Amino acid sequence: MSGLLAGKRLLITGIITDASIAFSVAKIAQENGAAVVLTGFGRMSLVERIAKRLPEPAPVIELDVTNPEQLAGIADKVREHVDGLDGVVHSIGFAPQSCLGGGFLDAPWEDVATALQVSTYSYKSLATACLPLMGAGGSIVGLTFDATKAWPVYDWMGVAKAGLESASRYLALHLGKQGIRSNLVSAGPLRTMAAKSIPGFEQFEEAWAERAPLGWDLSDQEPAARAVCALLSDWFPATTGEIVHVDGGYHALGA
Ligand SMILES: NC(=O)c1ccc[n+]([C@@H]2O[C@H](COP(=O)([O-])OP(=O)(O)OC[C@H]3O[C@@H](n4cnc5c(N)ncnc54)[C@H](O)[C@@H]3O)[C@@H](O)[C@H]2O)c1
Repeated sequence: MSGLLAGKRLLITGIITDASIAFSVAKIAQENGAAVVLTGFGRMSLVERIAKRLPEPAPVIELDVTNPEQLAGIADKVREHVDGLDGVVHSIGFAPQSCLGGGFLDAPWEDVATALQVSTYSYKSLATACLPLMGAGGSIVGLTFDATKAWPVYDWMGVAKAGLESASRYLALHLGKQGIRSNLVSAGPLRTMAAKSIPGFEQFEEAWAERAPLGWDLSDQEPAARAVCALLSDWFPATTGEIVHVDGGYHALGA
């Protein structure tokens, strides 16, 4: 098999529909020679049905990143399909409704804690759960939404993403000695299930349509997915703790 990811064994989390960023990552990875194992959360029969739309069949393992037993068992489950991992994709985010849409001042700690556990801490949990399968040259990639700014409706999810961006730098620090990289793709707004759960998300859509220097297609997950695949490949061998923006250039503008 030839291609950017020929011979790479990847674990990809975060598919729930075929609009999921993770679905595009899995598709492009397979098209470029990777062996892909997926994880699904909760609605397993739905994830398995969506997985059938990929170019190649891919096994789906159940994983709730807040479940310690499932995390502890993931390496053995992955070994049933591949003998190691060259890359892991974290494409997971969730915040209770109180944490989004302008309720920043009122969201209770229990809800904020859930957002941080699922969207921030899980980046580290997933990485350490997969470490027994990884070696030098390994790559961990996650998805963020520019957390250097406060956005109108993103609220505690923005705080969770700021934590994720920091967590990725710390993973880079702690896994560097083992030759394992950690990087994030900072994507512009895309119409996925997670995005639809954010009240007022259309404000992002309008802002990007108006201002992104390269323009921005809200329904095209491929640019972000390609960047994830590039970071999983051998073409960024000395890059870690980095955030690659795939946002049509929006982040580069002043107010
Ligand atoms: N859509 C956007 O505009 C956008 C922009 C930048 C970054 N992102 C990020 O991209 C990533 C993927 O989101 P998406 O937009 O593809 O949406 P999506 O809804 O398709 O994917 C989110 C995934 O998170 C999973 N998930 C939620 N709770 C989980 C848990 N406890 N354990 C395991 N998995 C869990 C869901 O099952 C789902 O597959 C997220 O980190 C999101 O914040 C999205």
